[in-house]
Amino acid sequence: MKERIPIKATAPGKIILFGEHAVVYGRPAIAAPLAQIRAVATIHPARSGGVVLIAPDLGVERNLADVKMDDALALTIQQVREAAGLQRLPDMTITVTSEIPIASGLGSGAAITAAATRALARFLNLETWNSDEWVSALTYEVEKIHHGTPSGIDNTVVAYERPVYFVRSEPQNIIETFNVLQPLRLLVGDTGISSSTKVVVGDVRRSWQKDPQRFNALFDGCGAISEAGREAIKKGARKEIGRLMNENHALLIDMTVSSQELNTLVTAALGAGALGAKMSGGGRGGNMIALVTADTEEAVRRALFAAGAVRVLESTVDGRGVT
Ligand code: MEV
Repeated sequence: MKERIPIKATAPGKIILFGEHAVVYGRPAIAAPLAQIRAVATIHPARSGGVVLIAPDLGVERNLADVKMDDALALTIQQVREAAGLQRLPDMTITVTSEIPIASGLGSGAAITAAATRALARFLNLETWNSDEWVSALTYEVEKIHHGTPSGIDNTVVAYERPVYFVRSEPQNIIETFNVLQPLRLLVGDTGISSSTKVVVGDVRRSWQKDPQRFNALFDGCGAISEAGREAIKKGARKEIGRLMNENHALLIDMTVSSQELNTLVTAALGAGALGAKMSGGGRGGNMIALVTADTEEAVRRALFAAGAVRVLESTVDGRGVT
């Protein structure tokens, strides 16, 4: 079938419900897409000029020929070119935009890569453009530039665009989508502080190497919370989910990956009636999440802004995981 020109593909942001950091060390974690903020990749064919990359948000307009291979977008494009078995790509412009703030724990890097991978594969008539597994696998390779030692959960959740239970393991990661008996309403509060996941993951690795016993115990605790969280989500036990979020946040503080600003937002959300709250993602800045009900949502939103949140998004996690 002839594709409509221009070709467009999108991918969502993400939140981690349970288990960030510990997931890098093989413990289970649960993530969900954050569909209302997205990365978009658009491809226009061109008559000449090679492959031009445009990222207006970053003020970037460059020819692929001039871009180093350690650039995430360049690697994304080369991977799809290789998958298509092409020596050379047809002339085109690839424009990438994203509403997902960078370095905020919401998966902006993974979403940009997944959107660009899908759009380019579609443009080149590769059937795999429609395979979440394939898009996730290619995105993972690029995540290594962003993250160093990514667990694979970010690329998985943005490519599958469904809530996932994820365990990093050999020879294959365990990826399960699951039923959500009662939709979970979350508020996502942004500290406005940018933080590099790569740096924080690197710090945790050094701490773990220094004191493996203590950090393994922290990771085990987070893993057990993810397991219990999965059961609670399946049963629709919201109070239990909230309690587990609070416990997870306490362990993340012990891991030294939270921050004063994140803790302030978590405390404010709980004070305003949230069932639970925790930081989400790499930490030391970025975003936190609070589990709310229809009765508490407005009060929690106000409390988050009053405590310094620069932005508050809503998200409903249900079986499809997307709103
Ligand atoms: C980042 O969203 C989650 C971390 O666990 C890193 C990773 O899993 O690659 C902090």
